[in-house]
Amino acid sequence: MTIETMDHQGRGIAHVDGKVIFVWNALPEEVVEVEILKEKKKWMEARVVRFFSVSEDRIESPCPYFLECGGCDLLHFNYQKQLEYKKKKVCELVKKFAGLDGVVQSVVPNDQPFGYRNKVIFQVDQRIGFYQKKSNQIVEVNGCLLLSKKMNLMLSLIKSKMDLSYVKEVMIRESSCDMLVVFDVSSSFLVTQIPLECFDGVSVLVKRGYEYEVISGNDFLTEQIFDFVFKVSPSSFFQVNKSGMEKLYQTVIQCCDFSGSEKVLDLYCGTGTIGIVVSKNVQEVLGIEIYEEAVFDAMWNKERNGISNIEFLCGDTGTILKKTLFDPDAVIVDPPRAGLDSLAIHELKKINAPKIIYVSCDPATMSRDLKYLETQYEVKTIIPVDMFSHTYHVECVCVLNRQ
Ligand SMILES: C[S@@+](CC[C@H](N)C(=O)[O-])C[C@H]1O[C@@H](n2cnc3c(N)ncnc32)[C@H](O)[C@@H]1O
Repeated sequence: MTIETMDHQGRGIAHVDGKVIFVWNALPEEVVEVEILKEKKKWMEARVVRFFSVSEDRIESPCPYFLECGGCDLLHFNYQKQLEYKKKKVCELVKKFAGLDGVVQSVVPNDQPFGYRNKVIFQVDQRIGFYQKKSNQIVEVNGCLLLSKKMNLMLSLIKSKMDLSYVKEVMIRESSCDMLVVFDVSSSFLVTQIPLECFDGVSVLVKRGYEYEVISGNDFLTEQIFDFVFKVSPSSFFQVNKSGMEKLYQTVIQCCDFSGSEKVLDLYCGTGTIGIVVSKNVQEVLGIEIYEEAVFDAMWNKERNGISNIEFLCGDTGTILKKTLFDPDAVIVDPPRAGLDSLAIHELKKINAPKIIYVSCDPATMSRDLKYLETQYEVKTIIPVDMFSHTYHVECVCVLNRQ
């Protein structure tokens, strides 16, 4: 069969006998023989068993785990083509769900398409690795090309020196100056299983349920973004790609084009990063975030960076917006993958600010929300940013102007 195009999860698409076939590791124009992995009434999922002709955009995956591991989807695809694919994907989704054409810009590339991740969660069951695609079988790994050398060295130390009985997950987070390792364990785990001599200068925590116990170092990381220092607690959200994050925030700043007199809402603000970065260009910022630990981090970040024109509220965005009297000139929203819920959309429409900057890690839910907002807002532009190279994921910054 011949692969016609690619779907939004990085799989090749072909048609046989009126059914769609989604083929892993297959690129447009390739002619392949496949093995069916799953069959439903209207579609099938398959993997390639033989190539009759390969695309000139195919490269040899530099990762030995690529075909099994569920982490990356596009390691077989030339990086420039990955960027073109991501633009096309965003164009198709905004067309399909929001009926929009001609608003999507070229993807802002990742300066460092390997070794960019500052956070990883390894699954453990005696072996340590990542889940296979769409399964909870673990693929054992000795390293990951998306991580830094230091993080991969930490993985080797944990694998070779530690008894991983009763460990469920290992999270490693890294900043430019710190590293934090969290062992998510069950009740029979003994802290003496941790060979502390291997973790010199590294913060080590044990997590049982929702409780964290500090074994060495701190219960947080700090990271510098532009001229600001941010504290990040182990479970607070922080973008996984530092240089991508700076490009993303730079894009937000350019899109906002503030004059200095604006009042700004920073919704789904996490540790306050976007609000703090834009605070020097505006009169006042109000950040809203549901996760209490992240709000404590945001307040610490405000103090540490000597910012006086930002406040944070902890709670659900829609519920707080319903009560607030804050009258913004611009609203920045950066929701989780699920996008905005109906109350948040309703309240945003009631507030009717002149400008909304929608930052999204899922162009499908973003496009759905743009459709809900279309009675009051016109989409001026959408700028995709490649924060997650070699995966099908793409971040977007969308500028909406009140009509
Ligand atoms: C994609 S992150 C964005 C964080 C931040 N803007 C940044 O760039 O680091 C989404 C954030 O929304 C928060 N969140 C999820 N649901 C929420 C809700 N209903 N109301 C407020 N915040 C919410 C999450 O805890 C998370 O911190």
